[in-house]
Amino acid sequence: MVMIIYVEHGGKEHVVDVANGRTVMEGARDSDVPGIEANCGGACSCSTCHVYVDSAWLERLPPKNAMEEDMLDFAYAPDQTRSRLTCQIKVVDTLDGLKVFLPLKQN
Ligand code: FES
Repeated sequence: MVMIIYVEHGGKEHVVDVANGRTVMEGARDSDVPGIEANCGGACSCSTCHVYVDSAWLERLPPKNAMEEDMLDFAYAPDQTRSRLTCQIKVVDTLDGLKVFLPLKQN
């Protein structure tokens, strides 16, 4: 299990243990973290699983592929540097303690 910290737009933190191999989106959805809608179920076709990654973690995440880059254009208030789609981030041991911030809204 890997600890992921989801921070709501208002500042409320949700600390969730997510199984290796799941995605950061699934970790939020399965624990009812509000603010991640994931309307497409993880197919990288809705952008409603958008978060801002804590700056300290940016280097440790795998790079975005072209599909994620394209879908982020449809997210609400994307940030060139910190925005990611959580359905595209697989949970692995090295992400233990990952902190992500939810946007004001999705789309
Ligand atoms: Fe739809 Fe991530 S869940 S893009």
